[in-house]
Amino acid sequence: MTFVMDPLLYPSIVKHGKQLDFHEFSNKVAPYTFGYPPVNNQSFPGLRKQVQRSFHLLQGDSLTPLTESMMGNLMLVFRQDHLGQDGGWRSGSMYDFCHSVMFEATLLTMYGRPPAGRRHGGLDALRDDFISFDNKFPLLIAQIPIWLLGRTKAVRDKLIRFFLPVSCWSNMSQFIRRRAEMFEQYDALRDVDKAAHHFAILWASVGNTVPATFWALYHLVSHPAALQAVRQEIQDVLQQDGVGWNRDGDVTLSRQQLERLLYLESAIRESLRLSSASMNIRVAQEDFSLRLDGERSVAVRKGDFIALYPQSMHLDPEVYEEPQTFRFDRYTQDGQQKTDFYKNGQKLRYYLMPFGSGSTKCPGRHFALNEIKQFVSLLLLYFDLQLEDGQPRASLDPSRAGLGILLPNVDVRFRYRLRTQQLD
Ligand code: HEM
Repeated sequence: MTFVMDPLLYPSIVKHGKQLDFHEFSNKVAPYTFGYPPVNNQSFPGLRKQVQRSFHLLQGDSLTPLTESMMGNLMLVFRQDHLGQDGGWRSGSMYDFCHSVMFEATLLTMYGRPPAGRRHGGLDALRDDFISFDNKFPLLIAQIPIWLLGRTKAVRDKLIRFFLPVSCWSNMSQFIRRRAEMFEQYDALRDVDKAAHHFAILWASVGNTVPATFWALYHLVSHPAALQAVRQEIQDVLQQDGVGWNRDGDVTLSRQQLERLLYLESAIRESLRLSSASMNIRVAQEDFSLRLDGERSVAVRKGDFIALYPQSMHLDPEVYEEPQTFRFDRYTQDGQQKTDFYKNGQKLRYYLMPFGSGSTKCPGRHFALNEIKQFVSLLLLYFDLQLEDGQPRASLDPSRAGLGILLPNVDVRFRYRLRTQQLD
């Protein structure tokens, strides 16, 4: 595998999307990891194309109903689980808190709710299974035989079976509805295969988002001045729009309002910069000469692997001053988003890459940013937040380096209580 380390050369790799393909790699490892049959053209003609096309239902106009639905579901989970009791500090484990709220709200947003009731039953057990599967995720991606991984196969089967009754759930997102209809066109797909595809999308939609949410919250709670600036910004946006808010009422932040939260967006981007370790892997589809810059080109053979590892750029002191420091406003400048970052005096086209690159860039990235903004906004509006004293700082657990957002090495105890201060 060849690593391209100079970020000024990233555009040369990204623009060769046809010759340097991501899907050859992902089409091999994803079916193995999630337990569905490979989506190749012989058995399922046209399916791969349809799957790709379905991704637009996570973006553009479709992002609005998705974001609205997520807001309602976050509010539902918050209200029923965390806003009920009044007064006094409560304590919890921050990663677990983020996981339980984001997992359930995302599941409801993507897949809808059961025929009876507004929430699915048995979610704690489902989450435990998900976490146990997720812990083995790096080994599965490395294609370690699943039978060597203890109970992982049994746990994965249980997770897949959760999606067997999906067709009778209501309020499903357009994205999942479209995928369910698409799978119905293929007789060769068994119900359990369709359910495995659904499970894969559940993993894609929370596997990185939950740790990203944790890091955004953790950095803000660890930096009270940043937290205060972000909280003020959220309150200002609500006030400017004349949206009264008090803790007994529900908050709604529209897609347009979320777009105006520049400090919050910057804080999330900054935590993504510090925690993301995604590797962009591409496989050469033919022999060709890869032009790197004006002077250099290299010969690439069919089947060669080329990789970008943007974490080295994210932590490069030439690109980012004091790269290990969390600066919540690093991506803002004069009330706008800051987009100019330099290496060797040249402006970088790609300076922040937690979501991959090129045409296979994560299709859920806009939704992910919105849902993290919604979650953090709700917490900051409703609660005073503090880390408990005497704990070691959370650092990055490197065990899934190359695969996305790194998890914290320890969970962190924190305290939260309903705020008394309210907006009118
Ligand atoms: C902070 C959260 C997230 C991060 C950091 C993230 C990151 C990534 C990365 C690095 C890739 C591979 C892209 C490449 O190598 O070119 C990817 C692919 C993907 N992501 Fe995300 N993602 C996040 C959230 C989401 C969400 C919320 C969804 C919603 C369903 C989602 C759906 C997908 C899908 C379906 C793919 C496969 C795309 C393809 O096969 O072309 N992701 N993501």
